Amino acid sequence: MALLKFPQGFVWGAVTSAYQIEGAWNEDGKGPSIWDGFVHQPGKIERGETADVSVDHYHCFPEDIALMQELGLQAYCFSVSWPRILPEGTGKVNQAGLDFYDRLVDALLKENISPYVMLYHWDLPQALQDKGGWSERFIVDAYSEYARILARRLGDRIPTWVTHNEPMVISLAGNFLGEQAPGLQDPFIALRVAHNLLVAHGQAVRALRAELPKTAKIGIILNITPTYPATDTEEDRQAARRYDGIANRLFLDPLFRGEYPADMLELFGPIFPEIPPGDLRTIAAPLDFVGLNYYMRAVMRNDPDTPLLQAAQVYPPESEYSQMWEIYPPGMYEMLTRIQADYHPKEVYITENGVCVTDGVDFDGRVRDERRIRYLRDHLTQVLRAIQVGVPLKGYFHWTLMDNFEWSFGYRMRFGLVYVDYATQKRTIKESGRWYANVIRNNGFGPEA
Ligand code: FCB
Repeated sequence: MALLKFPQGFVWGAVTSAYQIEGAWNEDGKGPSIWDGFVHQPGKIERGETADVSVDHYHCFPEDIALMQELGLQAYCFSVSWPRILPEGTGKVNQAGLDFYDRLVDALLKENISPYVMLYHWDLPQALQDKGGWSERFIVDAYSEYARILARRLGDRIPTWVTHNEPMVISLAGNFLGEQAPGLQDPFIALRVAHNLLVAHGQAVRALRAELPKTAKIGIILNITPTYPATDTEEDRQAARRYDGIANRLFLDPLFRGEYPADMLELFGPIFPEIPPGDLRTIAAPLDFVGLNYYMRAVMRNDPDTPLLQAAQVYPPESEYSQMWEIYPPGMYEMLTRIQADYHPKEVYITENGVCVTDGVDFDGRVRDERRIRYLRDHLTQVLRAIQVGVPLKGYFHWTLMDNFEWSFGYRMRFGLVYVDYATQKRTIKESGRWYANVIRNNGFGPEA
């Protein structure tokens, strides 16, 4: 069987986020984030686990870069902890925080690993949340100022910049469902958060363009959930459309078309925020690429008992599931081709895709996570299909480099290509990591890879 080959120059990477891996939650002048506060509240995280130490990447990063090098990663996408740079969110800059990312970036470049930096992966400075956080307009300027500080310090060495990771999760999981920090359950606030996130993104893009070299590329990361009706009835089709509106179009339309979807404005009616003039233009600032995170689809049925959305998710019994989500590889292709057809981004990256597997170290020291290998193979096959029909897909970042703190699930969910023994911080490359290293080496895979 022929090797499934990716285009020349296709970028292979892995992705992490600051709060999930760094630990050192109160070291070297770092201020508290909303996640530091959230995990210390009883009942929020399984077994009361926190990421105070997590996998201690703050201290172990040279070892982690050695692992990246062993895997042959060409790129590494990481997020910066805003409260490490600005402990109060605005105002006084913590030089020790900037120094950490400075060392990290230099160490990556030394190994020829291209750094992709993400400004925000959910760890808002608590001091800003105390003033209303993303739901208040002041956050827009605070965020651009933070972007500017990073660009001035790291802009000479980082070619690729991302503003937010998953604004949909930030606004809805954090402020409507209450599953994530700050743990609010208020649709009115959640919609304000969504809008302010988007305006802050647009204004930060402007600030970054002003500070960075002309060659720098700037984008945003969205999690897209391809949505399907449970049956062919009109009711279920409408239910799927509503869910697609909230999960996908509420963010895609303003970013790429400069408007909110009409059906969402109608659905939310009076609770949708007033949009000040000029905001939509700011949000739709041209981007060099979009990062797409793909994990799951949503199959929806009409359900008058669900407030607002009147739709409920259905889990097809014949499908395959992980501990967290359904596994549905064709959704990768369907997502990529749909985004291309509807929104025409210039370039696309898969910025997250992965699976949690209960894998452990066998007696011989190996971690045989065969399910992850199968997952990777199935999803990369769909990625390649999308490239073959013309999606300008430039790279794939696996979630994630190493096992880490998986938000409200604590350490139970292991997503890494590298296994971490949390008691000793010992890292072991899993079989999937070796498989991925082979894919990178061959820029593709066949039956043997
Ligand atoms: C994504 C998050 C990431 C991780 C994976 C499993 O939605 O961005 O931090 O939790 O899911």
